[in-house]
Amino acid sequence: MAKITFIEHCGTPHTVDVPEGTSLMQAAIGHNIPGIDADCGGAMTCGTCLVFVPPSWAEKLEARSEHERQMLEFSGKDAANARLSCQLIACPALDGLSVQIPESQG
Ligand code: FES
Repeated sequence: MAKITFIEHCGTPHTVDVPEGTSLMQAAIGHNIPGIDADCGGAMTCGTCLVFVPPSWAEKLEARSEHERQMLEFSGKDAANARLSCQLIACPALDGLSVQIPESQG
């Protein structure tokens, strides 16, 4: 279990307990957190599950796969701290992570 905080663009935080092995996208959808569209359901083809991760957490995350990197680049959202939340899988090391949701996924 990892406690993850999703921060809406307007600053509203939503902290949820995410079971190990569950993606942050699944957790956001399951808790009706606004701002994560996840149109492809986690197939890594839509790029609408974007979140921004604080630089201090970057080393604790699995590195982007080549596919994730390409998807972010293709959608023009490849900021250094941008991640697809469908590719961030909860584990104890992520307990306490806060991610920022962009203003829009469009
Ligand atoms: Fe579509 Fe993550 S849900 S890329």
